[in-house]
Amino acid sequence: MKTISIISQKGGAGKTTLALNLAGAAEEAGFRTVIVDLDPQASAKGWHDHRQREAPVVISAQAARLSEVLATASDHGADLCIIDTAPHSETAALAAARAADLILIPCRPAILDLRAIASSVDLAQLAKKNAVIVLNSAQPRGSLADDAEKAIASYGLPVAPVRITQRAAFIHSLTAGQTVIEYEPSGAAAEEIRALTLYSCQLAGMMANKHASRIAGKGGKRAVPA
Ligand SMILES: Nc1ncnc2c1ncn2[C@@H]1O[C@H](COP(=O)(O)OP(=O)(O)OP(=O)(O)O)[C@@H](O)[C@H]1O
Ligand SMILES: [Mg+2]
Repeated sequence: MKTISIISQKGGAGKTTLALNLAGAAEEAGFRTVIVDLDPQASAKGWHDHRQREAPVVISAQAARLSEVLATASDHGADLCIIDTAPHSETAALAAARAADLILIPCRPAILDLRAIASSVDLAQLAKKNAVIVLNSAQPRGSLADDAEKAIASYGLPVAPVRITQRAAFIHSLTAGQTVIEYEPSGAAAEEIRALTLYSCQLAGMMANKHASRIAGKGGKRAVPA
């Protein structure tokens, strides 16, 4: 089992949105996926309680019990665990970072968000784990996201080649207890999420190329930009 932790000390960066949707895309590709919700607000768990389907499983847990929970998930045959974390909680974020094969740091392309990612970058470096910044809620037009990407370069971490655009589908799907892939399987949001999932799973060392093609093949377009 591989583990992808989503951390950001800034509230509202898109941690839960990415956790649920990456898990949905991984499930679509045939990977048994578990979300561990370390946020005491339990947004991911609440989403799961309001949906009809069991998968992806969401487990609400405390950071102190994380290794036990991961071991149980692995024993039950999970291929992938995605950890959603709370903002403003260094202890839990560090535990998630240490458990990760890959850390994703979502960041909105806005100045206050860009300044605020320094502490998340520090945590990833402290944990000595592979980490990538994901631009989330990017404007579909204009140069804001390009400017943000240039500003992020000073943190010394790579930026994912797949940007997640600000789209109503991300909001409506979660309200309906769905992922964007369930909500609008051929939509642009679903396409971005499949691409980010493929990229992340490859970086996490999760799959051989034949598995990668299972995600890349959905939706019919190239998943990761050349
Ligand atoms: N790409 C997007 N397009 C449109 N809305 C988005 C996008 N990403 C996130 N949102 C919305 O922004 C809000 C915050 O997102 P989310 O809850 O995922 O952030 P978070 O980092 O988990 O927040 P917290 O730190 O409070 O846990 C939610 O209302 C969500 O629907
Ligand atoms: Mg959240």
